[in-house]
Amino acid sequence: MGIIIDGKVLAEKKREDISRRAKAFADKYGRSPGLAVVLVGEDQASAVYVRNKKRACIQTGITSFDYHLDENTTQKEILALIDELNARDDVDGILVQLPLPSQLIEEEILVRIDPSKDVDGFHPYNLGRLLMGEPSLVPCTPTGIMYMLDEYGVDIDGKDAVIIGRSNIVGKPMAILLMMRHATITICHSHTKDLPARVKSADIVVAATGRPHMIKGGWIKDGAVVIDVGISRTESGLVGDVDFDEAINHASLITPVPGGVGPMTITMLLENTIVAAGSHVS
Ligand code: GUN
Repeated sequence: MGIIIDGKVLAEKKREDISRRAKAFADKYGRSPGLAVVLVGEDQASAVYVRNKKRACIQTGITSFDYHLDENTTQKEILALIDELNARDDVDGILVQLPLPSQLIEEEILVRIDPSKDVDGFHPYNLGRLLMGEPSLVPCTPTGIMYMLDEYGVDIDGKDAVIIGRSNIVGKPMAILLMMRHATITICHSHTKDLPARVKSADIVVAATGRPHMIKGGWIKDGAVVIDVGISRTESGLVGDVDFDEAINHASLITPVPGGVGPMTITMLLENTIVAAGSHVS
């Protein structure tokens, strides 16, 4: 029976450190680090994420500036808001909650954010730096996962890591971070042949497909570390990409859903805000 990685406890520990740094920043510079969160429309899941982010900011002494824009906001309007936030001295981080309504062009909005305020790490400049081995602001879910692996003492060097999902937000940056730590990487996706065999070969599995219980417990190699990024709302509640009840019988370590990766993702957003704030003062 594997050990369950407690994302809430890890997040709490990290948030204590962030609170200390936010206070030290405020004492030194006479203002708290500031995070602007932009939500467009009424998507329920997005509203929950944004609420959790706001709560986490308050808990750690980061000032949260909240912008809830109308569903019919135009591209011009949101770009004007980004320009205004880029220019503000009290805003260190800008987060535009995704997905956006269909009239808005996501790529154009994300590149408009000043890279030094890109706390999501989604700007091509920051993703490029990561690719070049000079990370600065790195996407929060993958950095949260690295933090969890380190806190649980997982040896990454030379291990076979299989990532299921190839998004810019999770799969691709996750692969790079694990590769920087000398893992051998396989990225799987919807066109991958014989996914069960790929998963079976992995010492570390990161599942980020958004398909509930897609990864079966029997696919997991005995002793593997299993990280489940997925979170789907089903009739039986929130579930991950991995069939947890089966997989825990094979894994040495496994994240639950909820209470695994999720709390760490928000925590790393706070971490990135503190890092960004440090780059805005001299
Ligand atoms: N929507 C779902 N996850 C995220 C995230 O990490 N950042 C942003 N901006 N939007 C999201």
